[in-house]
Amino acid sequence: MALRIRLAEAGDIPLLRELIEASVRGLQAGDYSAAQLESALRTVYGVDTQLIADGTYFAAEETEASGGERSGAKSSGGALLVGCGGWSKRKTLFGGDQFAGREDSLLDPARDAAKIRAFFVHPAWARRGIGGMILAACEAAAWAAGFRRLEMGATLTGVPFYRAKGYAELEAAEVPLGDGLTLPIVVMGKSCG
Ligand SMILES: CC(C)(COP(=O)(O)OP(=O)(O)OC[C@H]1O[C@@H](n2cnc3c(N)ncnc32)[C@H](O)[C@@H]1OP(=O)(O)O)[C@@H](O)C(=O)NCCC(=O)NCCS
Repeated sequence: MALRIRLAEAGDIPLLRELIEASVRGLQAGDYSAAQLESALRTVYGVDTQLIADGTYFAAEETEASGGERSGAKSSGGALLVGCGGWSKRKTLFGGDQFAGREDSLLDPARDAAKIRAFFVHPAWARRGIGGMILAACEAAAWAAGFRRLEMGATLTGVPFYRAKGYAELEAAEVPLGDGLTLPIVVMGKSCG
């Protein structure tokens, strides 16, 4: 595996959307119903272009995949886009551009927790350490920006991953999806340093 973590760019957005859809449908099906997933893809999950503009969203590219390994993942300039995720210095806890509950005002690194945001790994590339590599890049960047705590609204699928990375479960929450559906999530946090 020849994996490269780089900052995501505006030109990646169409491939990021495809990656997010594949990740949600492929990896979250054991935790949520199909109706919840399709509704969440419409109203919650998606690219947050503010993170790309802030330079706080990462893309993981595989540059040497060949043969069967190429199937299922997305191609970007010859490489495969296999994962994405970011952090934020803004108040929004989760949600793509289309999500109504956004709050783009800036956090205070001395007082507030930076947010870990929008982690998605392609199902064909899960459990190979890609999410962990992106998370390490986010934690290092948030630390360099002066933050000493991190938190996120984790999907039920994300909980074992974040727990393995030292995050504690703080509270359960439900994101309204419309049509009487909700998306159960867990707010998790960790102090760094
Ligand atoms: C959560 C997610 C990003 C993890 O990405 P990943 O690249 O598969 O994670 P890693 O390979 O770095 O996993 C690191 C460790 O986390 C834990 N972990 C990750 N996924 C797990 C799972 N499904 N069940 C149990 N433990 C898990 C394991 O301890 C794992 O180490 P191991 O594989 O050596 O046992 C991925 O499952 C995903 O994209 N899910 C769908 C989208 C989503 O729900 N994202 C979370 C948004 S908050």
